[in-house]
Amino acid sequence: MMNPFSEAKMKQVDKIIARYPEGKQKAALIPLLNLAQEESGGWLSEPTMDYVAGLLKIEPIEVYEVATFYSMFNLQPVGKYVFEVCQTGPCMIRGSEDIVKHIKKRLGIDVGETSADGLFTLKVVECLGACGYAPMMQLGKYFREHLTPEKVDKIIDECTQKAAQQN
Ligand code: FES
Repeated sequence: MMNPFSEAKMKQVDKIIARYPEGKQKAALIPLLNLAQEESGGWLSEPTMDYVAGLLKIEPIEVYEVATFYSMFNLQPVGKYVFEVCQTGPCMIRGSEDIVKHIKKRLGIDVGETSADGLFTLKVVECLGACGYAPMMQLGKYFREHLTPEKVDKIIDECTQKAAQQN
């Protein structure tokens, strides 16, 4: 089975596992899945999850249960930029549906899909705890708040430019 972790990350993995007493290693599952996802282009394949199961000496099914439960884990390849738009009550009242509609139209994708250029994936998620800044979405490690269609356009342009510079 292929190890998804680089040598440097493997040190981090060992440190995380060592935080927990013998027999309680399963508690390290979420941080390890986060690291694995980071290392694997933003998503978790079955072999990657199986590898994590092996590291923690638990059954693969225990990993799948957690990975399928939390929306932050992607089980299919995703774009370079993942828009996770909150659709819970307060964000919905403040227009999250229009934001989602706008993103779909602008990028020509549906929820759960990735744009043809491989840059953007659209997801809808439950409350991210930033209701006071509704409507909002998570983009990578950051929250983008008080969204409007214009703001979304700007974010898409910024990401596209950034990606072009990196190529
Ligand atoms: S409802 Fe959107 S962040 Fe809470």
